[in-house]
Amino acid sequence: MKNYPLMKNNITNDDLSTIINFLKDDNVRLTQGEKVKAFEIAWSKWLGVKHSIFVNSGSSANLISISLLKHYFPEGGEIIVPPLTWSSDVFSIIRNGFTPVFADVSLKNLAINSSLLEEKITKNTKCIFLTHAQGYNGLTNKILEIVKDRNIWLIEDVCESHGAKFNDKKLGTFGHLSNFSFYYAHHLSTIEGGMICTNNDEYNDLLRAYRSHGLVREMQSEKTRNKWIENNEQLNPEFIFAVAGYNMRSTELNAVIGLNQLLRLDKNINLRNKNNNKFLSGLDGDIFYTDFDLNGQSNYAFNLIFVNKDKNKRDTLEKNMNSANIEFRRGSAGGGNQIRQPYVKKLIDNINPENYPICDHIHFYGYYIGNYPDLDEKSIDYILNVIHDF
Ligand SMILES: Cc1ncc(COP(=O)(O)O)c(C=O)c1O
Repeated sequence: MKNYPLMKNNITNDDLSTIINFLKDDNVRLTQGEKVKAFEIAWSKWLGVKHSIFVNSGSSANLISISLLKHYFPEGGEIIVPPLTWSSDVFSIIRNGFTPVFADVSLKNLAINSSLLEEKITKNTKCIFLTHAQGYNGLTNKILEIVKDRNIWLIEDVCESHGAKFNDKKLGTFGHLSNFSFYYAHHLSTIEGGMICTNNDEYNDLLRAYRSHGLVREMQSEKTRNKWIENNEQLNPEFIFAVAGYNMRSTELNAVIGLNQLLRLDKNINLRNKNNNKFLSGLDGDIFYTDFDLNGQSNYAFNLIFVNKDKNKRDTLEKNMNSANIEFRRGSAGGGNQIRQPYVKKLIDNINPENYPICDHIHFYGYYIGNYPDLDEKSIDYILNVIHDF
């Protein structure tokens, strides 16, 4: 492992002890059950939503969310998405027969630049799939106005931004749906895992069906289940497959870790923010971009974005970080401009990545390096020294 990895100790000995204690129970059940239910309830309470559905990854949360959108818009349509995001945000759109319409991001928060939105919206726009990247808030009043006035869906990808806020309210509570990832480096980790959240009862039932083969028996509302049963007299009520679903369930073990991690999530968010504030105050603003909008941040990682396109400086930075054993990723969230990825180029003719200049700049001249609760001030000073050593 690098001396300064992207994440350290995210699954603690304490987490492992809770698993061991759980396993000591004679009648232990490991597949989705009471612990998953308890984690969903605790997460809903922490976030401030009515329903949470625990799945096996953030990508599964993305895929099920867009499948639900397809349920309501079987004819397809356009979904506005940033090119600076994770691949599953884009391929969940493509795999469900929608068309991704890319909108470039702002340097201030690494999320869709709201001033570009109006020109992207057409009569076929069904949804804005907003990524809150790297712990920054991506929401604006303008985005909320647009989705309300045009009656289009908002799905928030909060995978990298647990606990970040807009107007003092947690991200993931504004959209029709929101998605979280609990992969290793995230603010809360269940080793692998993800969550879909919503305040809508009907979406909740359908999402539960999508998670588990499409089965009606997974739905929470008895009234809804009964309706499906009455309308399908020829079927065994235990085996009514309402929608073309998946198996994206997680396990009791992952939920046990999630419940334990939730106890320290707020404390860890504060530590990461404190680290990021120190890091940013030590960055040379002539070399690296420092003017991020920190309102409501829940920092995920230190972002290093060169102000100028200087290839020599970039090569020196990479060489110095490698020698100092500092792990880094070029391209920030999702490795940079998704439009440069083969899977997009293959599916969308004549799309030019250079038409998204901010994202493209981050693709070539942007990095993130690890920020985690255990990182001490001395280490941040050392990292700052290395990255300024030109
Ligand atoms: C913005 C974003 N969306 C989705 C995902 C997918 O999450 P997972 O790795 O849990 O599948 C990630 C992964 O880190 C992400 O950063």
